[in-house]
Amino acid sequence: MKEREVRMFYREYHDSNEMPHADKKLIEEAVLAASGAYAPYSHFMVGAAILFDDGTVVRGANVENAAFPSGSCAEKTAISYAVSNYPGKRPVAIAVAALSGGILTREPVPPCGNCRQMLIEEEQRQGHPIKVILTGKEKTIVIDSVESLMPLRFTKSNLL
Ligand code: THU
Repeated sequence: MKEREVRMFYREYHDSNEMPHADKKLIEEAVLAASGAYAPYSHFMVGAAILFDDGTVVRGANVENAAFPSGSCAEKTAISYAVSNYPGKRPVAIAVAALSGGILTREPVPPCGNCRQMLIEEEQRQGHPIKVILTGKEKTIVIDSVESLMPLRFTKSNLL
């Protein structure tokens, strides 16, 4: 028997002046994206902005549905849009922000397991880390790759 430990490293910013300019810009895009959410059931409006290595940004928001499981999270909307509309481009970062009652949440909102699964596949396909930037009023968390959010992940190699 072996015991194994998984460690995760991330940065936490309490002062946005310490953050790289590009990260702050992407957060602004995520907040803008949140305003496009269709969330009549949860009233929790989430936005995601994906940055490509050439500087292009695409946005996605959560899109809910009366048949609840049919809805899509913001991250999934954004990654699906990015992959389907820009097949040749390489995503390098994703920022996520959420509005509750029209106001940016106090705490950053971490992507759900399903969205992490979508993001890790793209990261692995690109063979390049995708930085994850999660923002709230109190702080912003920056994780350098999706990989560290998904230890013991299910990937295509499990299908072999
Ligand atoms: N949601 C997201 O869009 N992203 C997340 O990371 C967590 C949750 C959405 C799904 C649903 O529309 C609403 O937030 C409440 O769960």
